[in-house]
Amino acid sequence: MSIIAVSDVSYKYREDAGEAVKNVSFEVEEGEFLAILGANGSGKSTLAKLINALFVPTSGSVTVCGIDTRDESRVWDVRAACGMVFQNPDNQLVATIVEEDVAFGLENLGVAPDEIRRRVTEALDAVGMGEFGKSAPHMLSGGQKQRVAIAGVLAMKPRVIVFDESTAMLDPVGRAEVMNVVRRLNREAGITVLWITHFMDEAAQADRILVIDGGSLKACGAPRDIFRQTALLREAGLDVPEMTALAQALRAGGLCLPDDILTVDEMVVELCRLKSKT
Ligand SMILES: Nc1ncnc2c1ncn2[C@@H]1O[C@H](COP(=O)(O)OP(=O)(O)OP(=O)(O)O)[C@@H](O)[C@H]1O
Ligand SMILES: [Mg+2]
Repeated sequence: MSIIAVSDVSYKYREDAGEAVKNVSFEVEEGEFLAILGANGSGKSTLAKLINALFVPTSGSVTVCGIDTRDESRVWDVRAACGMVFQNPDNQLVATIVEEDVAFGLENLGVAPDEIRRRVTEALDAVGMGEFGKSAPHMLSGGQKQRVAIAGVLAMKPRVIVFDESTAMLDPVGRAEVMNVVRRLNREAGITVLWITHFMDEAAQADRILVIDGGSLKACGAPRDIFRQTALLREAGLDVPEMTALAQALRAGGLCLPDDILTVDEMVVELCRLKSKT
């Protein structure tokens, strides 16, 4: 059974407003790393909040770990199973010491102090922040703060984490730090990841990509299959990965290159192959 099932979901913020999410259906398998790609205002955050039971669908249904998000008595079970990490790390850190911050959610749940200490240590180690337990969050870099926010979610032992543009405010070093931690959590701890982004290079690392535009699901498939659909991406207001665009231009100019090149390394291999033939 899939861990998340979104079935013909629509959502309106107000009666008289248009639909921010329109008839969207997809499923996520446990252990999957799924990227959700869409331009500004396409409905990504609305979809994330529907999955986390912050919103309930206007029509259709969302199930998380078998729980229907419309079941009000199970809202906290949904949020425990499915954590969320947002864009701005400064809005997510509440305490003055890192370990207190990570413990915050557990204290609210009334978890025993020994168990809290164990889970906080484990969570900080898992994001490579084990040495910063006694630090003040405001002294950390953006990437470190975001890793502390991830530790706070991890301490709750979720099966799924939704990251809503969690690297958008970080510098390239911070982005790479966070991406590496999340990939490891997915691979090694088997945590299902929903990675909302508009960075193509991040989406390229996912198992599967959903493209949304104007609240509707426009495409769904492996990164290579999505990125070769350049017209669809441009229509959805998205960039095409640089190497894919270059390969297309070279193909149009008559070079015999595949249409699914994603990386510089792949481009080098293909160009060397062509050269060796001449
Ligand atoms: N609180 C709200 N009240 C009314 N309309 C909203 C609200 N939040 C979002 N919307 C509208 O819903 C649509 C989808 O917004 P949403 O924030 O889900 O998009 P997004 O893809 O996350 O955008 P961004 O890239 O800017 O984060 C937009 O048209 C937006 O204006
Ligand atoms: Mg958003």
